[in-house]
Amino acid sequence: MSKAPVIAIDGPSGSGKGTIASRVAEALGFSLLDSGALYRVLGVACHQHNIDLADAAAVAKLARRLDIQFGLSGEGSVCLDGEDVSLVIRTDLGSDMASKVGAIEAAREALFARQLDFRKAPGLVADGRDMGTTVFPDATLKIFLTASAEERAQRRYKQLIGKGIDAILPALLRDLKERDRRDSERAVSPLKPAEDAIVIDTTDLTIDQVVKQVLEHYSSA
Ligand code: DC
Repeated sequence: MSKAPVIAIDGPSGSGKGTIASRVAEALGFSLLDSGALYRVLGVACHQHNIDLADAAAVAKLARRLDIQFGLSGEGSVCLDGEDVSLVIRTDLGSDMASKVGAIEAAREALFARQLDFRKAPGLVADGRDMGTTVFPDATLKIFLTASAEERAQRRYKQLIGKGIDAILPALLRDLKERDRRDSERAVSPLKPAEDAIVIDTTDLTIDQVVKQVLEHYSSA
């Protein structure tokens, strides 16, 4: 039996991956894998359990036994051991811890099989950093979204202010560049476009324009 089609959408934080992936999945009736959420949950769990990130075996052990459920307490929600962690995983702590655990090879291996399980008919849209390069190298379509660091920090700033959360733009830009550096320079599955990925620079594009481009590429893939 042939495998269900996958659309891999990779890119750095703030490139619009999450929004674009969920809109594309909705348009096609596909399921969605937000792989960053897995790394975020693992990061938050390490923090809660006081796990030293230098102890890769302990991080991997925790990754293998994590009880993570998507959509249990509402659409887009994420639960860890039955507790809703949707908000905490999106905090700066969640972002920082996710990027740190993402650099640990044993942790990536432990999360690998969980990601494959999301592949089901009629298809999957998977967003992350290494969907097209490592997790679904046979994806039907590979998209790599980019945007300037300034634009991405600006988007994050607006998002936080919109939620009534205080934010300082230069600090957001600095943190974002630091995470970009860590995600791109790590030895295992670094953030980079797959050789056969289509790169879309979203700096001056609206969400609708990007969704339209991705759907057009899929229908001609
Ligand atoms: O996509 P995101 O911003 O939610 O991802 C948070 C962090 O998780 C990111 O800085 C690096 C890590 N990550 C990863 O290493 N591999 C993925 N496929 C997805 C996320």
